[in-house]
Amino acid sequence: MTRGQTKAAPPSGCPIHFDPLAEDQLLDPYPLYDRMREEAPVFWSDPQQLFVVTRYDDVLAVLRDHRVFSSHNSVRSSLAPPAPEVAAVLATGHSLSPTLTDSDEPVHGRLRGLVNRAFTHQRVAEMEEPVRAAANGLIDAFYADAEADVIDQFGWSLPITAISLILGLEGAEAERLHTWSYHWLKLLQATDSVEEQVGYAGSVVEMQRFFIDQLEQREREPRDDLMTVLLQSGRQLDPPVEIVEAMRIPMNLIIAGHVTVTRAIGNSVALLIDRPEEQARLRDELEGTIEELLRLESPAQGLFRTALEDAVVGGVEIPAGSRLMVHFAAANRDPEQFECPAEIRPEREGLMRHLAFGKGIHVCVGAPLARLELRIALPLLFQRLPSLRYAEPRVAVRDDVFFARGYRHLRVAWDR
Ligand code: HEM
Repeated sequence: MTRGQTKAAPPSGCPIHFDPLAEDQLLDPYPLYDRMREEAPVFWSDPQQLFVVTRYDDVLAVLRDHRVFSSHNSVRSSLAPPAPEVAAVLATGHSLSPTLTDSDEPVHGRLRGLVNRAFTHQRVAEMEEPVRAAANGLIDAFYADAEADVIDQFGWSLPITAISLILGLEGAEAERLHTWSYHWLKLLQATDSVEEQVGYAGSVVEMQRFFIDQLEQREREPRDDLMTVLLQSGRQLDPPVEIVEAMRIPMNLIIAGHVTVTRAIGNSVALLIDRPEEQARLRDELEGTIEELLRLESPAQGLFRTALEDAVVGGVEIPAGSRLMVHFAAANRDPEQFECPAEIRPEREGLMRHLAFGKGIHVCVGAPLARLELRIALPLLFQRLPSLRYAEPRVAVRDDVFFARGYRHLRVAWDR
């Protein structure tokens, strides 16, 4: 038995089999999350060698205590070293860390300051029209077919267009950026064959080279875009930000900033598709409805922390060095915080308390952009595609990423 098990086994004696990639949990994890919160709010999960924290108050406490709970490896579901073949490919590139997401203070503050300076409210507000035009353009392209894959033909293109526009990247790169980002995720998850992982590692190295090249171009010829701002502001820091350090920032923004929104679009369409009365809320209570959709089907189901010293979470002793998964999605359905948590209630008190964007120093830097994209995308899909429904036969394939929830494919049909 491990240390964690002796201290945090579920009290009922009925073990929690936490396996987000298992068929039933991919399909509907929420009954299990209810059990987790009730029977074993903080439990040791042996297969992943980590504590899972599931109640709202406990998740929030961990997120806020960044001095004790480090974000190193915060997006790695497994810490197993890569196979030698994969490591050999990665060695031809640069280290994947530190990024904004997986760094602690003071490195995090240095990077976050840079991103905050470049990623202003005004810049996001200026995206309204381009994002609307992009969303309409994508719908125009498939409208006449009366059927489409809302993920492949809309869900990932829209957010990647938005973040590319902000960064100042050419639209033609969208496909490559999407594939590289997806491969980065798969590489971190490390569940596919070594051969596939070698391919993912190759993509990640290519993505690094691409961004280094882009930054070098802006060093020679500054432009009016976020990459130039990042570079120029970074050069003024002490010590100045080097190209390799700068390269990880747009990479992080592209990856964190489109796969999540893709998932939010797919999850929201699936939540609303059979519920015409809830669809009406997109017209009347748009902003609150979007918060509820994010709470109910959180694209980032949970992420990871490491205890830097002995700690106690939810009454459970967490020895120094232990890994924890802070389970945003379980916390977001905690009935202690959200009355009738499975219902969409845009009028609920404390609507914005949800943890879909995290909390604390690592709270999502792209939340305003994500909200803007969802405010545009969801009403447009339901308005422009009348009687939106699942296509026949139904294709609704969940993506198998340990800490995320979303669709790989979601085919829909409508009346032209
Ligand atoms: C619905 C869409 C999104 C969801 C659900 C989401 C979720 C999250 C969550 C939960 C965190 C906290 C991570 C942690 O505590 O370890 C986070 C951080 C982050 N997000 Fe998002 N995000 C979304 C959209 C975006 C967008 C559009 C961007 C960029 C354009 C973005 C960029 C980032 C970055 C860079 C961080 C790290 C911030 C830091 O560590 O200081 N995200 N996001």
